[in-house]
Amino acid sequence: MQNILITGANRGIGFELTRQLLKDDSHIFATCREPERADALSELARKFDDRVTVLQLDVNDEASIGAAVKAVTTKTDALDLLINNAGIGGDEGGRIMGQLTAAEVSHVITTNAVAPLILTQACCSLLKQSDNPRVVMISSGLGSLQRADGRSYAYRMSKAAMNMAARVLAFDSVMTGITTVTMNPGWVQTDMGGPNAALKPEESGDALRALINRLTPADNGNFFQYDGSELPW
Ligand SMILES: NC(=O)c1ccc[n+]([C@@H]2O[C@H](COP(=O)([O-])OP(=O)(O)OC[C@H]3O[C@@H](n4cnc5c(N)ncnc54)[C@H](OP(=O)(O)O)[C@@H]3O)[C@@H](O)[C@H]2O)c1
Repeated sequence: MQNILITGANRGIGFELTRQLLKDDSHIFATCREPERADALSELARKFDDRVTVLQLDVNDEASIGAAVKAVTTKTDALDLLINNAGIGGDEGGRIMGQLTAAEVSHVITTNAVAPLILTQACCSLLKQSDNPRVVMISSGLGSLQRADGRSYAYRMSKAAMNMAARVLAFDSVMTGITTVTMNPGWVQTDMGGPNAALKPEESGDALRALINRLTPADNGNFFQYDGSELPW
């Protein structure tokens, strides 16, 4: 049985990944900001009573990170997979030249890049106890420097920073033995992706699960498209 922690598990890609990864022999620490409002996740947890533990975790709140990791340690000594999925697109203050604000740009970068790094640090000891530890950063093609075009400043900056965090983690001696990769889930029909997106959540989730399950240490430091092809940084 593998132990998995995923952030933003209450909706969108995070919820779908939680559903998909339950097809494997796994116990999932499904975290979200407001468990009391996470109806679909609570329903899933009821259905998979012994395999889903819902925990409160606001990735921007270090006390919340500490409490969630402590709660994990009461159930297991080892974490096999950490999925840093939670993220935000941000509002106009991070998107449009002329309307940019430092507060909004910083908020998006903090949520999408700083928080996953801090959470990974908090989970490092638990990951090191696993035989096959992996960290997956759910990034975006919009974080690719080679593909950058106009607008979405904060989001693009945040995902580029997340990608760099993943690369540094992959080659940090403290993380030796932990496979860290970055994945683009594709353009997905979620609240963030909108209804016109190319992929249904189950299509992206299914592909991401397959990709996660075939990761090997040789993949350490790579940036993957959901279908397993490599993306340019
Ligand atoms: N959808 C796409 O087309 C697409 C494309 C490329 C990359 N991505 C990436 O995929 C990931 C998931 O996106 P999505 O499409 O599923 O978005 P979504 O439907 O908007 O869901 C975002 C999730 O992140 C959570 N979240 C936001 N801020 C948080 C915080 N401070 N602490 C904990 N959780 C927080 C949300 O929780 P609440 O419900 O509490 O707000 C929600 O569970 C993101 O990292 C996104 O950048 C998405």
